[in-house]
Amino acid sequence: MQALPGFRDFLPENCAARNYIFAKWREVARSYGFIEWDGPILEPTELYKKKSGVEIVDQLFNFADKGERDVAMRPELTPTLARVIAAHEREFKKPLKWFSIGRFFRHEKQQRGRLREHFQLNCDIVGENALAADIELLALCIDLLRAFGFTEKVAVVRISDREFWTDFLREKNVPSDRWDELLQIIDKSGRESPENTRAKLGELADPVLAILSEGGKSEKLERLVKGLRGRGLADFIDIDVRIVRGLAYYTGIVFEVFDRGGKLRAIAGGGRYDNLIQQLSDGAVSMPALGFAMGDVVLGELINETAKAREKMQQVIAAEQKIDIYIVIAKEERRADALAQIQELRDRGYRVDYALTPEKVAKQFQTAEQLGARLAILFGDEWPQLKMKDMASGEQQLISSKDLVSRIGSELPR
Ligand code: HAM
Repeated sequence: MQALPGFRDFLPENCAARNYIFAKWREVARSYGFIEWDGPILEPTELYKKKSGVEIVDQLFNFADKGERDVAMRPELTPTLARVIAAHEREFKKPLKWFSIGRFFRHEKQQRGRLREHFQLNCDIVGENALAADIELLALCIDLLRAFGFTEKVAVVRISDREFWTDFLREKNVPSDRWDELLQIIDKSGRESPENTRAKLGELADPVLAILSEGGKSEKLERLVKGLRGRGLADFIDIDVRIVRGLAYYTGIVFEVFDRGGKLRAIAGGGRYDNLIQQLSDGAVSMPALGFAMGDVVLGELINETAKAREKMQQVIAAEQKIDIYIVIAKEERRADALAQIQELRDRGYRVDYALTPEKVAKQFQTAEQLGARLAILFGDEWPQLKMKDMASGEQQLISSKDLVSRIGSELPR
């Protein structure tokens, strides 16, 4: 029996890589003053039908639960966030800066960079209209990339503005109920043949294709880039009006992160969704909001393909997996004494391991080496003295068992 298509088993090495990614996500989000929250994995299907857009609704893992409710495994977090904010808005000081790390499910065709289950970091700012919030959010996104060891030569943040397109559609007298459909055609234009895009756009083909090939001008986007330049982060940014995003709720600035080599799918995406909270609360709560999500799948691929990022990850993982102390039990009569000491050392926060059943001393030292122990402590004939071996230098000394904890405290300061 294998895992279902698009679902992953996380063997220890995969889990270590995942933990590395999560730790960096948390560290950088916190450095921007974001606080962590989470929502449920299962939501009413209605929540996504209302505003996520047809593409995501087609990909839902949904079913009727035992109470005959139509429920869906969450494909994204933003509608949940909007629901939660609408319910708890008064309890928090604005602007609210929240992040979350969790699992998401989309019944996509499995392909490179796209699975049916993935993890996302979501970072959202709620209750702030000012462009300063868009700049802050983009700075956070770029600093996340930098934290993994990516430079502007490796990753790029393509930014655009949905208002640029909605202004254009208004100018062309296109009725607003067609906007979503047209924006989706523009979003897909990079992945479709020009003939297909032209056919779908109909009478708008010429002006839209002209903008797509020449690039559009947007004063708002220029100001945004300027804000990031002041922080030394602008080299990561490309203005690219072809980005409109597949999700239906975006209203303003939108962006997606890609590898510069253009080989992989998007690493992250987001933007402003100033109307979603109002729409999901039937007008009860109205609040501007913006955010993005970064997925673990493509990010993991780019880390593995970028030497500097890969080495950085491997170093952290290697250090993380090492133990501090290996207890070598050379005489079975000493096992009870050894276990008492092991308990005490673990209580003090050391990572300690030992052989659960009798083993040759040489084999135990070999395990100590494999586990990356810095010290090995031998309980044997010397009792009540112990042999302490520094695993790096090979140096050994006899110490009294009574002094063990304090000696370790000076050898391995916490
Ligand atoms: P999204 O662009 O649909 O945005 O997803 C964000 C990121 O999640 C993608 O760039 C990608 O890295 C990852 N991702 C999405 N689907 C898959 C998949 N099937 N397999 C692997 N990775 C995937 C959103 O979800 C928005 N809710 C983001 C947001 C937050 N907007 C505002 N706040």
